[in-house]
Amino acid sequence: MQRGILLFLCTLVLGRTAVVYNKCRITRALNDKLLYDKRLTYMGDYFPKDYKIFVRYEEVLRCQNITSLNNQGITVEELRYLWGIINEEILIKIKKVLPDRHPSMGYIMELQKIFKELLRDDIEIQTEIIQDIMERLSRADDIGPWKSVRPKALLDNCYRVLHALYEEECNLCKPRSEAEDDTLCPPETTPPITNSSSHDQR
Ligand SMILES: *[C@@H]1O[C@H](CO)[C@@H](O)[C@H](O)[C@H]1NC(C)=O
Ligand SMILES: *[C@@H]1O[C@H](CO)[C@@H](O)[C@H](O)[C@H]1NC(C)=O
Repeated sequence: MQRGILLFLCTLVLGRTAVVYNKCRITRALNDKLLYDKRLTYMGDYFPKDYKIFVRYEEVLRCQNITSLNNQGITVEELRYLWGIINEEILIKIKKVLPDRHPSMGYIMELQKIFKELLRDDIEIQTEIIQDIMERLSRADDIGPWKSVRPKALLDNCYRVLHALYEEECNLCKPRSEAEDDTLCPPETTPPITNSSSHDQR
């Protein structure tokens, strides 16, 4: 019950923000869709127990990946783009395994719509590391190696990295319960994501 009230307050605060950049508007919509309860229902409860999806290693983009790529000088902009591309691909894969009338179908399609909007502006990828990852991602689907991952785990990663990359700039509402808190990047693995490609080694 309390959670419901807090959720409502959070929505009110967001509604009042006068200047909302488009990007932040989209990421907030995404944040809302990816809240713990929804991930649990649509990606956990509605799937058979222990159901797994085969994805590429590169499609498992975790907090540690982001931290490590950032330490290698990858900019926030490129990280956001990579995260967007990877999750777009993941959604396609999840959708492929769903029968047409599966209760999660609408949810996945709504997420796809949000990602499509978020990725409307292509950016030019200049960093070789990112280019390499993109290339591995674009390889034909029948070439492994593969990793089997639970659908919810994929969207948990999506949510964690969303927060690592956008929480500060877009004022994303934080989880409001302990169970949800667990689904964020642990603080020690997420130093503030910096923009500079030559920031000093701390
Ligand atoms: C993230 O890290 C894992 C494990 O180290 C690795 O297999 C995967 O390829 C990385 N993903 C990206 C996008 O670099
Ligand atoms: C990163 O840099 C770009 C331009 O170089 C800027 O528009 C953007 O706001 C910066 N992002 C952060 C999180 O500082």
